[in-house]
Amino acid sequence: MAPQTAYDRAVDVLRQNDRGTYTVPTKGLYPFQWNWDSCLTALGQRHVDEARAWTEIETLFAHQWEDGMVPHIVFHVESDQYFPGPDVWGTNRPTIATSGITQPPVAGFAAKRIFDGATDRGLAEERARCLLPKIDAWHKWFFANRDPHGEGLVAILHPWESGRDNSIDWDAALDRVPTEGVGEYTRRDTQHADPAHRPTKAQYDRYLWLVQRFRGLDWDCSKLHDASPFQVVDPGFNAILIRSCTDLADLAEALGETAIAADNRARAKKGLAAMEGLWSEPHGQYLCRDRTINALIDSASIGGILAAFAAIPAERGRAIARTIERLSQSVTFSVPSHDPTDSRFDAPRYWRGPVWLVTNYMIADGMAAAGETVVAQLIVDSSLELIEKSGFAEYYDPISGAPCGGGDFTWTAAMVIEFLTAS
Ligand code: GLC
Repeated sequence: MAPQTAYDRAVDVLRQNDRGTYTVPTKGLYPFQWNWDSCLTALGQRHVDEARAWTEIETLFAHQWEDGMVPHIVFHVESDQYFPGPDVWGTNRPTIATSGITQPPVAGFAAKRIFDGATDRGLAEERARCLLPKIDAWHKWFFANRDPHGEGLVAILHPWESGRDNSIDWDAALDRVPTEGVGEYTRRDTQHADPAHRPTKAQYDRYLWLVQRFRGLDWDCSKLHDASPFQVVDPGFNAILIRSCTDLADLAEALGETAIAADNRARAKKGLAAMEGLWSEPHGQYLCRDRTINALIDSASIGGILAAFAAIPAERGRAIARTIERLSQSVTFSVPSHDPTDSRFDAPRYWRGPVWLVTNYMIADGMAAAGETVVAQLIVDSSLELIEKSGFAEYYDPISGAPCGGGDFTWTAAMVIEFLTAS
């Protein structure tokens, strides 16, 4: 029998993790539906089954909160494999439990990409038309609840919202989060994956303190921002939101929804202008800002590179391309999630050094849009070399290329399908 192609193996991973109307990130470690995982997974699914791709995003939005928030986890099934589960979150949802925080809003971007490439135009129009107001309500929620002073940029209130859970970006801000009263708990992640690849106990205590704080406010999203000792403006997260606003505006225009188009265009314009305040000339990339002390965070992570996913000014895109080239000199595989020349860089530890194919996908997209095709290709080549060498891992050591975290990982497979089918 001929060996399976990378494409076929990726499709197999999506099938294995498909639970009918949603896809788990991987078996064991993550047994539920995750927000940005699902939206990015739908991009891979569309090449196999367009209707199934729309369903993936729709299932997520079926659990959108009344105020517009879209939770980072939907606990479709009972499982003691994951901590913290629904009892810890205590969000009191009417039917299926969800977490109470959100994740990077890639839905607007994903919906547009699926719509644009759809072969079944009638289906795409129908499904996109239903999703449009829901995604718009999420965007509106962000600016109402996470940008109370109208800066144009939103804050994350928990490191898990960033999708880059234990990034060095959060260290100093997280240090200011107390741990009193957190109590005893048993982690599950370190039973599924190597503890040396995972966040530390000190970080976990603070993750849980924040959850308990928000739960103490009955998950009233209008109160959480001001009550949180952790408020960080992440350029990667904001770039994703800005990109999704622009893409949703395009989609709304195509569907004749002019009011949604105008609102999202305005959000994107204001956000892009405000991003300038996060630029760091010495680092050649954007940085996070700690809103509680109103200061930039000196941490050259992938968050400030991911910013290229939005339509940033041409000179910023060029500078980021040069930064990626510089980073690639210190690693075998690009793009590391943190600058390897920083003493805090940790090659196998989650978001403190490893390469992730989802961030690679969005950065490569931004580089291609900026006309930096050589850098974009470098990122695609690294991604495909990694899966040939180490399979569909959750993430990879950027120096050795070793697979890290969970295996047979859904969004890694989805990104591979996207890379392989790009024309
Ligand atoms: C980890 C990642 C996060 C992802 C989740 C499920 O928490 O940091 O970005 O959504 O796993 O794959």
